[in-house]
Amino acid sequence: MPTVRPPLVDRFGRRHNYLRISVTDRCNFRCAYCMPHEDMEWTARSEILSYEEIERLARLFAEMGVDKVRLTGGEPTTRKELVDLAAKLRRIEGVGPLLLTTNGDAMGSMAGPLREAGITGVNLSLDTLDPGRFFDITHRNRLDRVLVGIEASLAAGFDSVKINVVVMAGVNDDELCDFIDRFWDCPVEVRYIEFMPFLSNGWQEGKLLPYAEIRKRIEAKHRLTPIATDKSAVAKEFAVEGARVRVGFITSMTDDFCGGCNRIRLTADGRLKVCLFAKTGPSLRDAMRAGATDDDLAETIRHALDGKWAGHPPMNQLIQTNDRPMISIGG
Ligand code: 5AD
Ligand code: SF4
Repeated sequence: MPTVRPPLVDRFGRRHNYLRISVTDRCNFRCAYCMPHEDMEWTARSEILSYEEIERLARLFAEMGVDKVRLTGGEPTTRKELVDLAAKLRRIEGVGPLLLTTNGDAMGSMAGPLREAGITGVNLSLDTLDPGRFFDITHRNRLDRVLVGIEASLAAGFDSVKINVVVMAGVNDDELCDFIDRFWDCPVEVRYIEFMPFLSNGWQEGKLLPYAEIRKRIEAKHRLTPIATDKSAVAKEFAVEGARVRVGFITSMTDDFCGGCNRIRLTADGRLKVCLFAKTGPSLRDAMRAGATDDDLAETIRHALDGKWAGHPPMNQLIQTNDRPMISIGG
């Protein structure tokens, strides 16, 4: 019988059942909105959690009621033997959805094995369908490989496949409907994400295209019907008339979803992050390596969660509160 611990409820009554684990801060792409500069220093291997350490923490979180886990990066598929980690996490009692966020570059060959290991859903990043623009955004000529990765993900039989589009005014906002056309007949959700500010990622208010505007542009061409979602869902989801593809909007900037937040994050170097925009929290890695028991770790986690705020600060203050670039948080 697995140990059962009290759930991770914060001061505002929010129950945290969704753990996002960054498995590496490395990436083979160079998206400026995510990485502060080309020559980022990666964290040394020894400072990154081992798979055994990740498994131990995931199990502990599961004992505290976490039933949904997502693997993120950097780019998670750049870490060796990711499939083994997926299989280890799959065996943890209580974990239902086991998800992956990826740039799609390696999914041509990895989608099948990851599905078999027990990954249930994938989110793939794709901000443009134009090869030249793809290079401008990612600094890599890999659009074709990513599209192959998306095809392979669709063929692998995941419960859910989503395409993440970070919408940036003046960069890719003239392509919004192209994604719908491209995936018209596919069982995928295209998620339009408002551009968020992180450490040195080139964010300016003028580059944020607000949800209302994104939606208006899509509704000029397509009829959208809302799909009911539960209260911790971050996306506003819609069916597109006549199509199999669905669309979702992630409105972090103009209509945040902090009130229903159920997420807690573990960085690749083993620190807790109770909010995407909060200062990085205590190191569970150091605690584990110093011999902490599971009870000690649980206590540290609860204490960190006690400091979680009700909602993130307003847009123009976010740049100051954030102490890490996106690449070392993992989204
Ligand atoms: N704003 C919004 N979304 C972002 N992502 C990365 N950086 C940003 C940002 N500045 C998203 C990408 C990727 C996921 C890991 O996080 O869509 O799919
Ligand atoms: Fe890599 Fe994804 Fe960040 Fe792009 S957004 S640099 S693909 S982690």
